[in-house]
Amino acid sequence: MNNSISGFSKLSKEEKINWIANEYFANPSEAIATIKQYWNSDAKLQQLHDEFIENTISNFYLPMGIAPNFLINDKYYSVPMVIEESSVVAAAAKSAKFWSTRGGFKATVLNTEKIGQVHFLFKGDSSKLEIFFNTIKDNLIASTESITKNMQKRGGGITSLELRNKTAELENYFQLHATFETKDSMGANFINSCLEQLAKSLKEEAQNYSDFNENEKEIAVVMSILSNYVPNCIVRAEVSCKVEDLAEKKIENPQEFAEKFVQAVRIAEIEPFRAVTHNKGIMNGVDAVVLATGNDFRAVEAGVHAYASRHGQYSSLSHAKIENGIFTFWTEIPLALGTVGGLTSLHPLVKMAFEILGKPSAQELMQIVAVTGLAQNFAALRSLTTTGIQEGHMKMHINNILNQFQTTAEELKIIKTHFENNSISHASVVEFIEKLRK
Ligand code: MEV
Repeated sequence: MNNSISGFSKLSKEEKINWIANEYFANPSEAIATIKQYWNSDAKLQQLHDEFIENTISNFYLPMGIAPNFLINDKYYSVPMVIEESSVVAAAAKSAKFWSTRGGFKATVLNTEKIGQVHFLFKGDSSKLEIFFNTIKDNLIASTESITKNMQKRGGGITSLELRNKTAELENYFQLHATFETKDSMGANFINSCLEQLAKSLKEEAQNYSDFNENEKEIAVVMSILSNYVPNCIVRAEVSCKVEDLAEKKIENPQEFAEKFVQAVRIAEIEPFRAVTHNKGIMNGVDAVVLATGNDFRAVEAGVHAYASRHGQYSSLSHAKIENGIFTFWTEIPLALGTVGGLTSLHPLVKMAFEILGKPSAQELMQIVAVTGLAQNFAALRSLTTTGIQEGHMKMHINNILNQFQTTAEELKIIKTHFENNSISHASVVEFIEKLRK
């Protein structure tokens, strides 16, 4: 079957749905009903969601949960999390509660620099290009004034502009490497607009530069775009307490626990296979808050993992130590986040998430997100180094399995009681349900 179509984007929403339903489903009316089941009954609200992207046919729900009791820099937060994986929110909440009685989380924004580049080709004498750049640098920056005016009022703008010679790696390749302060916005649009203006002015200035020969006047701009690698936009989150204070129901020997925990972190520091999963656990927390606050989780993911490889080998984003009887666990991660612009003032649930968080600044949000990542990592390592991950995970996951089987309330009671004292796996739950139903 040839499932191609031209002019799909020009079809109405109904027509698009009909085409999909007829093309891919044996029972088109059932498919249409499923797609429409997720529409919002409030037509205006539905239209808002339709217009976030293109070719919208429906809404894809993800659960939004709350992890309360996060004590961060002596202030309590209830953290909204959007994620599909069971046990993540529970783990965050458990970690938050645990650390709230041990001094809470400390978080600090170390720096907030964003980066953008104009990538261009220059066929000529690089020393002449350097002189040219230094001569026109102020003009380049001045040419962005209409774009930067408002950002400057908020204390942001272009903070530096450099010419970088990359010809050793790629013939004729140079960059304008710019850094930005974007205050409470993530800044992608602002940065890209500035870069496109810089590129335009660069070309124009070259055309009018009398010391360039005809070849040198033809600067070829390849592209102008922000970088999602932000190694100077770092937030640090930390917890610490006396080793003996780690004691609780499941941590009977805190010294042994702390040592094993530190060992688990060391393994993630030197072993990339483990580091990826270790960091995935951090991102369970990070992404969930990034999503709930309408931020760009792909940008965050890309930047964080690049940062995890900055020394040439992928490594742990968190670290732990025991010194003078004190256990310390911390992370430093790059986070380019916004609390204004983008979806932040459009999506009603994102707006609610910001209300719940007390309308944080971008820097405060960086702290909350990093802390949630650290909390998640703590919960995962605590389980992994004590009971194993499956115990807690399967306890949460059991609901998903039971939903698949559409269990009755009565069955549910029997199943839950049985699995309080029996080990849970997908197979054991399925087997038990089948036995029960016989
Ligand atoms: C599962 O989503 C995350 C973990 O695998 C993280 C880890 O192994 O540290 C539990």
